[in-house]
Amino acid sequence: MCGIFGYIGNQQATNLLINGLRRLEYRGYDSSGIAILNSKISHTKCIGRVANLESVLPENMDGNCGIAHTRWATHGGVTKENAHPHLSEDGTVAIIHNGIIENSRALRNWLIAEGVTLQSETDSEVLAHLIHRARCDGLSPLDSVRRALRQTRGTWGLCALFEDEQMIVCARNGSPLVIGVGDGESFVASDPHALTPHTQRVIFLEDGDLAVLTAGGVQTSRLDGDSSDATVTTIDQSWGVADIGDFPHFMLKEIHEQPESLRQCISGRTVLSEGNGKLGGLDLSAKKLLEISHIRLIGCGTALHACQVGRLAIEHMARVPTQSHVASEFRYNNPVISPAALYLAVSQSGETADTLSAVKEIQLKGGTVMGVINVVGSSIARQCGRGVYIHSGPEQAVASTKAFSNMVASLTIFSLQIGRARSLSKRDGKQVVKALNAIPNQVEKYLEDSGPIMEAVQAVKDAPHVLFLGRGASAPVAREGALKLMEVAYIPCLAYPAGEMKHGPIALLEEGSPVVVICPNDKFRAKTLSNVQECKARGAKIILIHDEGDDEAAIEADIAIAVPATHSVISPLLTVVPLQLLAYHVAVELGRDVDKPRNLAKSVTVE
Ligand code: M6R
Repeated sequence: MCGIFGYIGNQQATNLLINGLRRLEYRGYDSSGIAILNSKISHTKCIGRVANLESVLPENMDGNCGIAHTRWATHGGVTKENAHPHLSEDGTVAIIHNGIIENSRALRNWLIAEGVTLQSETDSEVLAHLIHRARCDGLSPLDSVRRALRQTRGTWGLCALFEDEQMIVCARNGSPLVIGVGDGESFVASDPHALTPHTQRVIFLEDGDLAVLTAGGVQTSRLDGDSSDATVTTIDQSWGVADIGDFPHFMLKEIHEQPESLRQCISGRTVLSEGNGKLGGLDLSAKKLLEISHIRLIGCGTALHACQVGRLAIEHMARVPTQSHVASEFRYNNPVISPAALYLAVSQSGETADTLSAVKEIQLKGGTVMGVINVVGSSIARQCGRGVYIHSGPEQAVASTKAFSNMVASLTIFSLQIGRARSLSKRDGKQVVKALNAIPNQVEKYLEDSGPIMEAVQAVKDAPHVLFLGRGASAPVAREGALKLMEVAYIPCLAYPAGEMKHGPIALLEEGSPVVVICPNDKFRAKTLSNVQECKARGAKIILIHDEGDDEAAIEADIAIAVPATHSVISPLLTVVPLQLLAYHVAVELGRDVDKPRNLAKSVTVE
C-alpha cells in the first residue's frame, strides 16, 4: 500500500528517495511523487511506476532534504493531481500521507469556504492546507503539524516539508513510520526494510508520536505535547530486499523457497522424544496452556486461511474450542473478549490495519493476544509484545506463498505444545513432529517434479470461473488456491467445502467447467471423491490434487497432480504448493503483472 521515504543530510536527496521508493514498490501502488527542498520546494509526480517518476524528474532537482511517496488510491482516482506530495497553495508546505483522514469531507468544505482552492480529490491534501494555516498563524513547523492533526480524525503516517526550514516533521497514528538514525543524516520510511541499506539504527514511532528530523538528529514528542518514549533500536541488516536471483518473478522464487523457509521455521522448535512443540516466544507454561478456555485466531486473506488450518489442528490436538475470524469484521462485531481465552493475530507483514485494530480491541477489553508474524519489529508484533515469528524471510510478491506455509507450520507447532499440555498423547505428538520435520524435504521433492501443472494451466486459463473444493483441512486450502488464482490471474474463483457444493455452486457447472479438488488420503477422501463424481456428471473437468500412490483417486481426475503423502493435520503444507504454481503459471500465461497484481497492495495499512 502507500509508501513513504524521506531524507535529510549531506547527500543529494533525489536519488536516495527514488531508490527508497524502489524498495517500497512491492507493497503495491498506482502513482508516485517526490518533493525536494532547496531554496524552494520543487516537486514532481506521475501515475504508474517509480521508473516513470524517474523519467520525468527535472534535471536540476537538487537538494539535501526531501520526501517521496507511492500512492495506492483510496480517496480519488489514480491521477497525477491525486498523487502525493500535496502542497499548500503558496507551495511553502509539502506533505506526504499514508492512512485515511476520516473527517476530510468536512475539512475540505471548510477550507473551500475559507477560500482555499483544492487541487486534488484526496483526503490527504487538507493536511497541507491546515499545516500551512497554522504556520501563517506563527506556529513552529512542529506545532503546525500538531495543530493540524488535532483538527483531524483518522490514521496517518505523515511527513511534512517546509520551505524555510531544514527539517522534516513526521507523525504516526495507525499507519507505520520508522525513523532511520544515520551519521549526520536522518531517514524516514513506512517500512523498515527501505532503511536497511542506510542504517540499522531505527526508531519505531508509536501512535500519537511526532518526530522532527534534521541532519543532526531526531527529536520525538507526543501529539499532546508530552515527551515520547521512542527509543533507538537496531534492526537486522540481513532482512534486505530479497534478490530475485535467476527467477523471472518473486512469486516463483518464493514458492521455491518454501523448503528452506519451512526449515527455518521448524528448526529447534520441536522435541521429538516428547512429541512436543517449543515456542519460547509465547512464554506460556504447561499450566497456563491447560487453563486456556478457548482460542481465537484472527487474520486476513492468506493469513486467514492459515488461521482456518490452524484452528483445525488446535482442536484436533488440544481439544480446546477454537475459532478463526476475519480481522476486518472482528472489532466491529463487538466481540466478547474473555481473559481466560488466548487470541492469536496472524500476519505476514505485521502491518495489516484490520488485524492491528482487532489486536487493540482485544487488549482494550482485557484479552491476551499474541502475534504469529513474519516481519520482525512490525506494528502488530510490537503491539502484541509476545508471540511467534514465522521466519519466512522477506516476502516480496503481493501474492503470499511461503508465509502461508510458515504460518501453518507455526500454528502446528503451537497445536503440539498446547496439545501435549492437555490431551495429546506422546505417541500421537511424535507422529506429528516426525511428519512436520519431514515436510521441507517433501516440498522440495514435489517442487523438483511438480506434475502436469501446465496441463492444468491450459484447462483453467480461459475459463470464465473456477471452482475449488476440499474438505477438512483441505477446505481452507481450496480457499487459498482460489484466492491465489483470483489475485494474480484475475479469474473469478469460488471455493467451497466439497460437501457444500451441491447446495448451490453446482449450478455453475457445465461442460468443461474446471473444478480443482484437494483430496489427500485422509478421512474425508471417500466423501470428496463422491463430490468429484457429482461434478463429473455435470461435465466438469477435474483437476485433482492427491497423495502420491493414490491411484484410485487419480483415476477419477482429468488432470491428476500427486504430492507426497503426510500426516492429515499438515497436508495443507503439501497440497497448497501445486495451487500456488497453478496460479503463478496461469498469470504468466495471461501476461499478468505477477508480482504486483492490479489494485492490490502487499501491506494493507488502511481498514
Ligand atoms: O500481511 P498480512 O499477512 O496480514 O496480509 C494479509 C492479507 O492482506 C494477505 O494475505 C493478502 O490476502 C495476500 N495478497 C494474499 O496473497
